Amino acid sequence: MTLPPSTPASAPPRLHLHEKPTRFAALMDAAVDAIIVIDQHGLIQEFNPAAQRMFGYGLDDVLGHNVSLLMPSPYAGDHDAYLQRYNATGEARIIGIGREVQARRQDGSVFPIDLSVGEVKEAGATFFVGIIRDISERQEARELRQRLTHVTRLSTLGEMASGIAHEMNQPLTAIVTYAQAARRLQEKGDTAELDQVLDKIAKQAERAAAIIRQMRNFVRRQDREQQVVQVAELVHGVIQFLQMDTGRRNIPIDPRMVDDLPPLIVDTVQIQQVLLNLVLNAMDATEAAGSQQAVQVLARLEPGDQVQFDVIDRGCGVSADHESQLFTPFFTTKAAGMGMGLPICRSIVQAHGGQLHYLPNPDGGSIFRFTLPAMME
Ligand SMILES: Nc1ncnc2c1ncn2[C@@H]1O[C@H](COP(=O)(O)OP(=O)(O)OP(=O)(O)O)[C@@H](O)[C@H]1O
Ligand SMILES: [Mg+2]
Repeated sequence: MTLPPSTPASAPPRLHLHEKPTRFAALMDAAVDAIIVIDQHGLIQEFNPAAQRMFGYGLDDVLGHNVSLLMPSPYAGDHDAYLQRYNATGEARIIGIGREVQARRQDGSVFPIDLSVGEVKEAGATFFVGIIRDISERQEARELRQRLTHVTRLSTLGEMASGIAHEMNQPLTAIVTYAQAARRLQEKGDTAELDQVLDKIAKQAERAAAIIRQMRNFVRRQDREQQVVQVAELVHGVIQFLQMDTGRRNIPIDPRMVDDLPPLIVDTVQIQQVLLNLVLNAMDATEAAGSQQAVQVLARLEPGDQVQFDVIDRGCGVSADHESQLFTPFFTTKAAGMGMGLPICRSIVQAHGGQLHYLPNPDGGSIFRFTLPAMME
Protein backbone atom coordinates (compact mmCIF):
# COMPACT_ATOMS: atom_id res chain seq x y z
CA MET A 1 0.00 0.00 0.00
CA THR A 2 1.39 3.39 -0.97
CA LEU A 3 -0.34 6.42 0.43
CA PRO A 4 -0.26 9.82 -1.29
CA PRO A 5 2.19 12.11 0.48
CA SER A 6 0.53 14.68 2.68
CA THR A 7 3.37 17.18 3.01
CA PRO A 8 2.02 20.68 3.66
CA ALA A 9 2.40 23.34 0.92
CA SER A 10 5.26 25.19 2.64
CA ALA A 11 7.62 22.25 3.16
CA PRO A 12 9.21 22.38 6.63
CA PRO A 13 12.91 21.69 7.23
CA ARG A 14 13.74 17.99 7.19
CA LEU A 15 16.22 15.81 8.92
CA HIS A 16 18.02 13.90 6.21
CA LEU A 17 19.84 11.57 8.50
CA HIS A 18 19.13 8.42 6.53
CA GLU A 19 20.80 9.97 3.52
CA LYS A 20 24.05 10.55 5.39
CA PRO A 21 26.40 7.80 6.51
CA THR A 22 26.60 9.39 9.95
CA ARG A 23 27.00 7.47 13.19
CA PHE A 24 23.38 8.23 13.91
CA ALA A 25 22.25 6.68 10.64
CA ALA A 26 24.35 3.57 11.30
CA LEU A 27 22.80 3.33 14.76
CA MET A 28 19.35 3.67 13.29
CA ASP A 29 20.02 0.76 10.95
CA ALA A 30 21.51 -1.47 13.61
CA ALA A 31 18.95 -0.70 16.33
CA VAL A 32 16.81 -3.58 17.55
CA ASP A 33 14.14 -1.13 18.63
CA ALA A 34 12.05 0.72 16.09
CA ILE A 35 13.14 4.34 15.79
CA ILE A 36 10.88 6.91 14.18
CA VAL A 37 11.60 10.60 13.73
CA ILE A 38 8.74 13.01 13.12
CA ASP A 39 8.72 16.76 12.55
CA GLN A 40 6.62 19.19 14.52
CA HIS A 41 3.63 18.58 12.24
CA GLY A 42 3.73 14.89 13.00
CA LEU A 43 5.11 13.91 9.59
CA ILE A 44 7.43 10.94 9.50
CA GLN A 45 11.03 11.83 8.61
CA GLU A 46 12.88 8.69 9.59
CA PHE A 47 11.73 5.11 9.86
CA ASN A 48 14.52 2.65 10.59
CA PRO A 49 14.64 -1.00 9.41
CA ALA A 50 13.43 -2.29 12.77
CA ALA A 51 10.39 -0.01 12.47
CA GLN A 52 9.77 -1.29 8.96
CA ARG A 53 9.81 -4.87 10.25
CA MET A 54 7.68 -4.08 13.27
CA PHE A 55 4.97 -2.15 11.42
CA GLY A 56 5.15 -3.92 8.04
CA TYR A 57 5.54 -0.67 6.10
CA GLY A 58 8.32 0.08 3.58
CA LEU A 59 10.19 3.36 3.86
CA ASP A 60 8.32 4.91 0.92
CA ASP A 61 4.95 4.00 2.43
CA VAL A 62 5.50 6.20 5.44
CA LEU A 63 8.03 8.98 4.81
CA GLY A 64 6.20 12.30 4.78
CA HIS A 65 3.00 10.76 6.14
CA ASN A 66 1.39 11.62 9.43
CA VAL A 67 2.58 9.39 12.26
CA SER A 68 -1.05 8.81 13.28
CA LEU A 69 -0.94 6.20 10.52
CA LEU A 70 0.81 3.97 13.06
CA MET A 71 -1.76 4.45 15.79
CA PRO A 72 -5.18 2.94 16.29
CA SER A 73 -8.08 5.22 17.15
CA PRO A 74 -8.60 7.05 19.43
CA TYR A 75 -4.86 7.84 19.70
CA ALA A 76 -4.65 8.60 15.97
CA GLY A 77 -7.24 11.38 16.17
CA ASP A 78 -5.76 12.90 19.32
CA HIS A 79 -2.18 13.03 18.19
CA ASP A 80 -2.35 16.09 15.94
CA ALA A 81 -4.09 18.11 18.64
CA TYR A 82 -1.50 16.95 21.13
CA LEU A 83 1.40 18.03 18.91
CA GLN A 84 -0.24 21.40 18.25
CA ARG A 85 -0.68 21.99 21.96
CA TYR A 86 2.92 21.04 22.61
CA ASN A 87 4.20 23.35 19.88
CA ALA A 88 2.09 26.21 21.24
CA THR A 89 2.54 25.71 24.98
CA GLY A 90 5.53 23.42 25.42
CA GLU A 91 3.31 21.22 27.60
CA ALA A 92 4.66 17.72 27.13
CA ARG A 93 2.84 14.64 28.33
CA ILE A 94 5.18 11.96 27.09
CA ILE A 95 8.59 13.40 26.29
CA GLY A 96 11.23 11.93 28.51
CA ILE A 97 8.88 9.37 30.04
CA GLY A 98 8.39 5.89 28.65
CA ARG A 99 4.85 4.67 28.46
CA GLU A 100 2.83 1.74 27.23
CA VAL A 101 0.51 2.55 24.33
CA GLN A 102 -1.13 0.78 21.41
CA ALA A 103 0.24 0.79 17.85
CA ARG A 104 -1.16 -0.37 14.51
CA ARG A 105 0.58 -2.39 11.82
CA GLN A 106 0.04 -1.99 8.10
CA ASP A 107 -2.33 -4.96 8.14
CA GLY A 108 -4.50 -3.14 10.69
CA SER A 109 -3.57 -5.35 13.64
CA VAL A 110 -3.06 -3.55 16.93
CA PHE A 111 -0.26 -4.38 19.36
CA PRO A 112 1.10 -2.98 22.63
CA ILE A 113 4.32 -0.98 22.58
CA ASP A 114 6.61 0.70 24.99
CA LEU A 115 7.22 4.19 23.64
CA SER A 116 9.79 6.74 24.71
CA VAL A 117 10.05 10.08 23.01
CA GLY A 118 12.93 12.54 22.83
CA GLU A 119 13.13 15.97 21.28
CA VAL A 120 15.80 17.13 18.81
CA LYS A 121 16.24 20.72 17.65
CA GLU A 122 18.03 21.16 14.36
CA ALA A 123 18.15 23.98 11.84
CA GLY A 124 15.65 26.01 13.86
CA ALA A 125 13.07 23.24 13.76
CA THR A 126 11.93 20.70 16.31
CA PHE A 127 11.89 16.98 15.65
CA PHE A 128 10.72 14.17 17.86
CA VAL A 129 12.44 10.81 18.07
CA GLY A 130 10.32 7.89 19.17
CA ILE A 131 11.94 4.67 20.30
CA ILE A 132 9.52 1.79 20.22
CA ARG A 133 9.63 -1.70 21.63
CA ASP A 134 7.04 -4.32 20.83
CA ILE A 135 5.85 -5.64 24.19
CA SER A 136 3.19 -8.08 22.95
CA GLU A 137 5.08 -10.98 24.45
CA ARG A 138 5.63 -9.28 27.76
CA GLN A 139 1.96 -8.38 27.94
CA GLU A 140 0.82 -11.84 26.91
CA ALA A 141 2.99 -13.37 29.61
CA ARG A 142 1.54 -10.96 32.15
CA GLU A 143 -2.04 -11.72 31.11
CA LEU A 144 -1.40 -15.44 31.16
CA ARG A 145 0.02 -15.17 34.64
CA GLN A 146 -3.02 -13.22 35.81
CA ARG A 147 -5.40 -15.69 34.20
CA LEU A 148 -3.60 -18.61 35.77
CA THR A 149 -3.67 -17.09 39.23
CA HIS A 150 -7.37 -16.47 38.81
CA VAL A 151 -8.04 -20.03 37.62
CA THR A 152 -6.04 -21.48 40.50
CA ARG A 153 -8.00 -19.36 42.91
CA LEU A 154 -11.30 -20.35 41.36
CA SER A 155 -10.55 -24.05 41.58
CA THR A 156 -9.45 -23.63 45.17
CA LEU A 157 -12.64 -21.71 45.70
CA GLY A 158 -14.62 -24.62 44.25
CA GLU A 159 -12.93 -26.84 46.79
CA MET A 160 -13.50 -24.30 49.49
CA ALA A 161 -17.14 -23.52 48.75
CA SER A 162 -18.57 -26.42 50.67
CA GLY A 163 -16.10 -25.80 53.47
CA ILE A 164 -17.21 -22.20 53.70
CA ALA A 165 -20.84 -23.30 53.78
CA HIS A 166 -19.82 -25.49 56.69
CA GLU A 167 -18.05 -22.59 58.40
CA MET A 168 -21.17 -20.48 57.97
CA ASN A 169 -23.24 -23.18 59.55
CA GLN A 170 -21.51 -22.70 62.88
CA PRO A 171 -22.49 -19.08 63.50
CA LEU A 172 -25.93 -19.63 62.01
CA THR A 173 -26.66 -22.58 64.30
CA ALA A 174 -25.42 -20.53 67.25
CA ILE A 175 -27.68 -17.63 66.26
CA VAL A 176 -30.73 -19.92 66.14
CA THR A 177 -29.88 -21.34 69.56
CA TYR A 178 -29.32 -17.90 71.09
CA ALA A 179 -32.52 -16.57 69.55
CA GLN A 180 -34.49 -19.39 71.16
CA ALA A 181 -32.80 -18.61 74.48
CA ALA A 182 -33.66 -14.93 74.02
CA ARG A 183 -37.34 -15.76 73.60
CA ARG A 184 -37.36 -17.78 76.82
CA LEU A 185 -35.58 -14.99 78.71
CA GLN A 186 -38.02 -12.46 77.37
CA GLU A 187 -40.94 -14.55 78.62
CA LYS A 188 -39.27 -14.74 82.03
CA GLY A 189 -38.69 -10.99 81.99
CA ASP A 190 -34.93 -11.46 82.59
CA THR A 191 -33.68 -8.40 80.73
CA ALA A 192 -30.09 -8.47 82.03
CA GLU A 193 -29.46 -11.96 80.70
CA LEU A 194 -31.40 -11.13 77.55
CA ASP A 195 -28.99 -8.29 76.82
CA GLN A 196 -26.03 -10.64 76.97
CA VAL A 197 -27.65 -13.15 74.67
CA LEU A 198 -28.46 -10.42 72.14
CA ASP A 199 -24.78 -9.42 72.23
CA LYS A 200 -23.81 -12.97 71.45
CA ILE A 201 -26.21 -13.04 68.50
CA ALA A 202 -24.63 -9.86 67.15
CA LYS A 203 -21.11 -11.35 67.52
CA GLN A 204 -22.05 -14.50 65.67
CA ALA A 205 -23.67 -12.52 62.88
CA GLU A 206 -20.49 -10.45 62.55
CA ARG A 207 -18.51 -13.64 62.28
CA ALA A 208 -20.77 -14.92 59.49
CA ALA A 209 -20.36 -11.59 57.70
CA ALA A 210 -16.59 -11.85 58.03
CA ILE A 211 -16.61 -15.29 56.41
CA ILE A 212 -18.65 -13.99 53.49
CA ARG A 213 -16.37 -10.99 53.14
CA GLN A 214 -13.39 -13.26 53.04
CA MET A 215 -14.89 -15.41 50.30
CA ARG A 216 -15.76 -12.33 48.26
CA ASN A 217 -12.24 -10.98 48.56
CA PHE A 218 -10.92 -14.30 47.42
CA VAL A 219 -12.99 -14.30 44.24
CA ARG A 220 -12.26 -10.67 43.50
CA ARG A 221 -8.53 -11.33 43.37
CA GLN A 222 -8.04 -8.78 46.05
CA ASP A 223 -5.29 -8.90 48.55
CA ARG A 224 -6.09 -10.34 51.91
CA GLU A 225 -6.98 -8.02 54.72
CA GLN A 226 -3.63 -7.86 56.43
CA GLN A 227 -3.33 -6.59 59.96
CA VAL A 228 -0.49 -6.44 62.42
CA VAL A 229 -1.60 -8.69 65.23
CA GLN A 230 -0.12 -10.15 68.42
CA VAL A 231 -0.02 -13.93 68.67
CA ALA A 232 -1.68 -13.85 72.10
CA GLU A 233 -4.55 -11.79 70.69
CA LEU A 234 -5.12 -14.37 67.95
CA VAL A 235 -5.13 -17.33 70.30
CA HIS A 236 -7.27 -15.73 73.00
CA GLY A 237 -9.80 -14.64 70.39
CA VAL A 238 -10.25 -18.27 69.38
CA ILE A 239 -10.48 -19.49 72.98
CA GLN A 240 -13.10 -16.86 73.73
CA PHE A 241 -15.05 -17.86 70.68
CA LEU A 242 -15.02 -21.52 71.73
CA GLN A 243 -16.23 -20.59 75.21
CA MET A 244 -19.25 -18.92 73.62
CA ASP A 245 -19.97 -22.15 71.79
CA THR A 246 -22.09 -23.60 74.58
CA GLY A 247 -22.82 -26.82 72.71
CA ARG A 248 -19.17 -27.90 73.07
CA ARG A 249 -18.04 -30.45 75.61
CA ASN A 250 -15.82 -29.78 78.56
CA ILE A 251 -12.37 -30.04 77.06
CA PRO A 252 -10.15 -27.22 78.26
CA ILE A 253 -7.73 -25.33 76.06
CA ASP A 254 -4.30 -24.68 77.45
CA PRO A 255 -2.51 -21.84 75.68
CA ARG A 256 1.27 -21.74 76.11
CA MET A 257 2.86 -18.85 74.34
CA VAL A 258 6.43 -17.76 74.74
CA ASP A 259 6.67 -14.17 75.99
CA ASP A 260 7.89 -11.44 73.67
CA LEU A 261 6.79 -13.12 70.46
CA PRO A 262 7.04 -10.73 67.52
CA PRO A 263 3.74 -9.71 65.95
CA LEU A 264 2.45 -11.21 62.70
CA ILE A 265 1.07 -9.54 59.61
CA VAL A 266 -1.89 -11.74 58.73
CA ASP A 267 -5.54 -11.80 57.91
CA THR A 268 -6.78 -12.24 61.47
CA VAL A 269 -10.11 -13.84 60.57
CA GLN A 270 -8.42 -16.40 58.34
CA ILE A 271 -5.73 -17.37 60.83
CA GLN A 272 -8.29 -17.62 63.63
CA GLN A 273 -10.25 -19.92 61.36
CA VAL A 274 -7.16 -22.12 61.05
CA LEU A 275 -6.68 -22.26 64.82
CA LEU A 276 -10.38 -22.87 65.35
CA ASN A 277 -10.49 -25.77 62.90
CA LEU A 278 -7.40 -27.37 64.39
CA VAL A 279 -8.66 -26.99 67.96
CA LEU A 280 -12.10 -28.38 67.03
CA ASN A 281 -10.44 -31.37 65.38
CA ALA A 282 -8.30 -31.85 68.48
CA MET A 283 -11.42 -31.76 70.68
CA ASP A 284 -13.18 -34.26 68.42
CA ALA A 285 -10.18 -36.59 68.65
CA THR A 286 -9.97 -36.18 72.42
CA GLU A 287 -13.64 -36.98 72.77
CA ALA A 288 -13.30 -39.97 70.43
CA ALA A 289 -10.65 -41.33 72.80
CA GLY A 290 -13.10 -40.91 75.71
CA SER A 291 -10.76 -38.36 77.30
CA GLN A 292 -11.09 -34.82 78.65
CA GLN A 293 -7.39 -33.95 78.52
CA ALA A 294 -6.66 -30.35 77.62
CA VAL A 295 -5.81 -29.33 74.09
CA GLN A 296 -2.56 -27.40 74.12
CA VAL A 297 -1.88 -24.45 71.84
CA LEU A 298 1.83 -23.60 71.71
CA ALA A 299 3.50 -20.71 69.97
CA ARG A 300 7.21 -19.99 69.80
CA LEU A 301 9.77 -18.28 67.63
CA GLU A 302 11.79 -20.51 65.33
CA PRO A 303 14.95 -19.75 63.32
CA GLY A 304 14.22 -17.98 60.05
CA ASP A 305 11.84 -15.51 61.74
CA GLN A 306 8.98 -17.96 61.81
CA VAL A 307 6.40 -18.21 64.53
CA GLN A 308 5.53 -21.87 64.98
CA PHE A 309 2.15 -22.96 66.31
CA ASP A 310 1.41 -26.44 67.63
CA VAL A 311 -2.10 -27.67 68.37
CA ILE A 312 -1.56 -30.76 70.49
CA ASP A 313 -4.08 -33.31 71.68
CA ARG A 314 -3.94 -36.64 73.51
CA GLY A 315 -6.83 -38.01 71.50
CA CYS A 316 -7.33 -40.96 69.21
CA GLY A 317 -4.44 -40.08 66.86
CA VAL A 318 -4.23 -40.72 63.13
CA SER A 319 -3.82 -44.23 61.76
CA ALA A 320 -0.98 -44.92 59.32
CA ASP A 321 -3.27 -45.40 56.33
CA HIS A 322 -5.13 -42.15 57.00
CA GLU A 323 -2.05 -40.01 57.41
CA SER A 324 -1.50 -39.38 53.70
CA GLN A 325 -5.15 -38.40 53.17
CA LEU A 326 -5.54 -35.90 56.01
CA PHE A 327 -5.27 -32.84 53.76
CA THR A 328 -7.29 -34.25 50.86
CA PRO A 329 -10.57 -32.36 50.39
CA PHE A 330 -13.58 -34.30 51.73
CA PHE A 331 -11.50 -36.89 53.56
CA THR A 332 -13.27 -37.45 56.86
CA THR A 333 -13.73 -40.22 59.41
CA LYS A 334 -16.54 -38.39 61.19
CA ALA A 335 -20.23 -39.08 60.68
CA ALA A 336 -21.03 -35.36 60.55
CA GLY A 337 -17.67 -34.26 59.10
CA MET A 338 -17.21 -32.56 55.77
CA GLY A 339 -13.48 -33.21 55.46
CA MET A 340 -12.81 -29.60 54.48
CA GLY A 341 -11.26 -28.31 57.71
CA LEU A 342 -7.66 -29.34 57.07
CA PRO A 343 -7.46 -28.52 53.33
CA ILE A 344 -8.81 -25.04 54.05
CA CYS A 345 -6.34 -24.59 56.90
CA ARG A 346 -3.46 -25.60 54.67
CA SER A 347 -4.46 -23.28 51.82
CA ILE A 348 -4.79 -20.35 54.23
CA VAL A 349 -1.44 -21.02 55.88
CA GLN A 350 0.29 -21.42 52.52
CA ALA A 351 -1.27 -18.21 51.23
CA HIS A 352 0.40 -16.52 54.22
CA GLY A 353 3.77 -18.00 53.28
CA GLY A 354 3.73 -20.77 55.88
CA GLN A 355 3.42 -24.56 56.10
CA LEU A 356 1.00 -26.88 57.91
CA HIS A 357 1.87 -30.49 58.83
CA TYR A 358 0.69 -33.36 60.95
CA LEU A 359 3.07 -35.05 63.41
CA PRO A 360 2.23 -37.98 65.65
CA ASN A 361 2.30 -36.99 69.32
CA PRO A 362 4.97 -39.12 71.08
CA ASP A 363 2.68 -39.15 74.15
CA GLY A 364 -0.25 -40.42 72.07
CA GLY A 365 -2.59 -38.25 70.01
CA SER A 366 -1.72 -35.71 67.33
CA ILE A 367 0.20 -32.53 66.74
CA PHE A 368 -0.77 -30.14 63.95
CA ARG A 369 2.07 -27.70 63.38
CA PHE A 370 2.03 -24.56 61.27
CA THR A 371 4.39 -21.68 60.75
CA LEU A 372 3.79 -18.05 59.84
CA PRO A 373 6.41 -15.46 58.97
CA ALA A 374 6.98 -13.07 61.87
CA MET A 375 7.22 -9.33 61.51
CA MET A 376 10.79 -8.54 62.54
CA GLU A 377 12.10 -5.02 63.21
N1 LIG B 1 -6.37 -33.89 65.85
C1 LIG B 1 -6.74 -34.96 65.13
N2 LIG B 1 -6.60 -36.21 65.65
C2 LIG B 1 -6.97 -37.30 64.95
N3 LIG B 1 -7.47 -37.23 63.68
C3 LIG B 1 -7.62 -36.04 63.12
C4 LIG B 1 -7.28 -34.84 63.80
N4 LIG B 1 -7.52 -33.80 62.97
C5 LIG B 1 -8.02 -34.33 61.86
N5 LIG B 1 -8.08 -35.67 61.93
C6 LIG B 1 -8.56 -36.57 60.89
O1 LIG B 1 -8.53 -35.91 59.65
C7 LIG B 1 -9.83 -35.91 59.07
C8 LIG B 1 -10.01 -34.67 58.25
O2 LIG B 1 -10.07 -33.52 59.08
P1 LIG B 1 -10.81 -32.23 58.56
O3 LIG B 1 -10.73 -31.20 59.60
O4 LIG B 1 -10.27 -31.92 57.22
O5 LIG B 1 -12.29 -32.70 58.34
P2 LIG B 1 -13.36 -33.10 59.44
O6 LIG B 1 -12.94 -32.60 60.78
O7 LIG B 1 -13.62 -34.56 59.31
O8 LIG B 1 -14.62 -32.33 58.93
P3 LIG B 1 -14.81 -30.75 58.94
O9 LIG B 1 -14.99 -30.39 57.51
O10 LIG B 1 -16.01 -30.59 59.78
O11 LIG B 1 -13.61 -30.11 59.55
C9 LIG B 1 -10.78 -36.07 60.22
O12 LIG B 1 -12.00 -36.63 59.84
C10 LIG B 1 -9.99 -37.00 61.13
O13 LIG B 1 -10.10 -38.33 60.70
MG1 LIG C 1 -12.29 -30.59 61.02
